[in-house]
Amino acid sequence: MTTITNTLAGLGALMFIAGCGGGAAEAPATTPEPAEPVAWDDMDMDQRRSFMGHEVTPQMAELFEGHDAERYGYFSCEGCHGETGADRNYAMPNPDLYTLYATGSQEQLDMVNNQRPMVNFMFQEVVPAMKELLDAPDYDPETQEGFSCYYCHPNGGEGTPAAAAGEANSLFLPRGTL
Ligand code: HEC
Ligand code: HEC
Repeated sequence: MTTITNTLAGLGALMFIAGCGGGAAEAPATTPEPAEPVAWDDMDMDQRRSFMGHEVTPQMAELFEGHDAERYGYFSCEGCHGETGADRNYAMPNPDLYTLYATGSQEQLDMVNNQRPMVNFMFQEVVPAMKELLDAPDYDPETQEGFSCYYCHPNGGEGTPAAAAGEANSLFLPRGTL
């Protein structure tokens, strides 16, 4: 009886050490392996909500606050999704954000002239950071798919001549505009 108990105890100790990869001082073998990161495209709504809360919002809040602490001192889900975000099940773009127009349109030119600091901030900080967070593909003017300002902002070009010309989704400023 004693022998069996000792043997089992010995086995247990061996398994414990093997499970930990050595070093009895390490955490018990029951600690779960960190889960493989799931790509945004493969996440369900709960995972997306959680990713938005833990990764997107803190990082983007820091950017917005750095740009204008007074205006964006408390930047949360509503900052991007708007007050109706939860009611709309967080569908994007957010219809309450500033409407954007296609490359070369008068509206776009007016935007650049009137909102230069904000447009710069969007181009240089918001777009690259958000694209990386979502690991979104580059914008492709051919297919009009990939990451652009229109992930967040409504597209005022839809149904307009610019849209018909296939320009509605492009929002690249002519070189030297900024
Ligand atoms: C910096 C802007 C930003 C902030 C802040 C933000 N989101 Fe998002 N969120 C987005 C964008 C852009 C998308 C769309 C991504 C896409 O289409 O691939 C999105 C998508 C989502 C989706 C998935 C919707 C769908 O139909 O798949 C959920 C859920 C969500 N957000 C919840 C939240 C919650 C909850 C918060 C706050 C904790 C939050 N978001 C904060 C920009 C933001
Ligand atoms: C990740 C989401 C997101 C993306 C992508 C994005 N924006 Fe924004 N944009 C915002 C948010 C949030 C605000 C702040 C709205 C506010 O102050 O209430 C904003 C504000 C602006 C404003 C100021 C509007 C105002 O009412 O003062 C302009 C102009 C603008 N964006 C242009 C752009 C352009 C151009 C691009 C692409 C180069 C772009 N944005 C990409 C989320 C985004």
